[in-house]
Amino acid sequence: MTGKKQKPIRFGIIGGGLMARELASAMARWCHLLDLDVRPELVAVCDREPRLLDWFTANFPALGQTTTDYRELLANPQVEAVYCAVPHNLHRQMYVDIIEAGKHLLGEKPFGIDREANRAILDAAARHPQAIVRASSEFPFFPAVQRIIRFIQEKRFGTILEVDCGFLHSSDMNPDKPINWKRMIDINGEYGCMGDLGLHVFHLPLRAGWTPANVRAILSKVVRERPDASGRRVPCETWDNATLFCEVAQADGYAFPLTAKMQRMAPGETDTWYLTIKGTEFSARFSTKRPKTLETMPYSKSGPQAWHSEDVGYETQFQAITGGIFEFGFSDSLLQMLAAFCRQIELGNNGELFFGCATAAETRWTHEIFTAALASQKSHSVVAIGS
Ligand SMILES: NC(=O)c1ccc[n+]([C@@H]2O[C@H](COP(=O)([O-])OP(=O)(O)OC[C@H]3O[C@@H](n4cnc5c(N)ncnc54)[C@H](O)[C@@H]3O)[C@@H](O)[C@H]2O)c1
Repeated sequence: MTGKKQKPIRFGIIGGGLMARELASAMARWCHLLDLDVRPELVAVCDREPRLLDWFTANFPALGQTTTDYRELLANPQVEAVYCAVPHNLHRQMYVDIIEAGKHLLGEKPFGIDREANRAILDAAARHPQAIVRASSEFPFFPAVQRIIRFIQEKRFGTILEVDCGFLHSSDMNPDKPINWKRMIDINGEYGCMGDLGLHVFHLPLRAGWTPANVRAILSKVVRERPDASGRRVPCETWDNATLFCEVAQADGYAFPLTAKMQRMAPGETDTWYLTIKGTEFSARFSTKRPKTLETMPYSKSGPQAWHSEDVGYETQFQAITGGIFEFGFSDSLLQMLAAFCRQIELGNNGELFFGCATAAETRWTHEIFTAALASQKSHSVVAIGS
């Protein structure tokens, strides 16, 4: 254990809901990480609901500013970086304002409610090349997934045969669950479940260079009405489930299929992120259903093909106090992701990490994919991505 001097990065949080508390909690247990030269310090929080600020003031006594107006937070010269976790219809205005205020941004997905909003955010980022602008996507920081990333970097798979990836929830299976903003098109966006879950699914494939060339999407609206807060049944218009059949073209004319599922109505699935990669020389798979298990299958031309199962302990990109045999979980993945963001601030935009947060360019590709998927659903046909 070293006593490395840590440079503070002063954070503001905009949107004090579910995800904001998770990120604040990750900041509060920074002592969990070893050997880092940076440390986030929460100095300001904004939520339009004053009652939500109480949790932050109770748990962060040194918090210098709480406000219901995010512009006040942006005017605070103490704030260097902002984590912003607000409903999707607010991403464009707030993310642009954060970048224009000269702050670094860790924004939540889908990084703009639609492609136009995403482009406006990316334009602001381009005008401020010194700003670190990244999107939140924590699942690739699971130790088994980090191993898979290394296999990809080492080109262990040979020729890729297929990639199967997805993110599944069952939390909407109850048709009487009251509607919230995540099920309203004007707040969540036309993408529906794709905007909610899709960046998680595509972050790693895009980082691997597997950008789909085209897509045939099958989108389903299963529950058409839900009760509102008063019990009255109101239209529920967002897509519940999406299955995207994509073609990934390689340089030599070869192409392989990538199937991506984003489902909010997947019986038995609480929060299941999964990835299977099959290649001519090696295959690997992981699912958060068995969060410490990495399955791999090496083979030679004529040898046996058998899945190997290995428990991967707390083997993280950023070293931690946790013993190597212990289990890694969701909040650990957020801590690792935040460490990647803070390290990126220290390194600058050109500094390379083993695996970093989703980039602005990667969010742009997800918008191209989801926009094409909507067109594919409408026309019942294959649609070129980026067309
Ligand atoms: N990375 C992940 O795993 C993950 C998980 C869930 C949600 N998210 C994303 O995080 C974001 C927020 O989702 P959430 O689940 O935390 O939602 P939430 O509803 O729990 O929190 C959003 C907060 O924003 C606040 N807000 C709304 N308008 C505001 C305004 N004008 N000024 C200040 N605050 C305002 C709300 O009061 C609320 O507290 C979304 O983009 C969502 O897609 C990411």
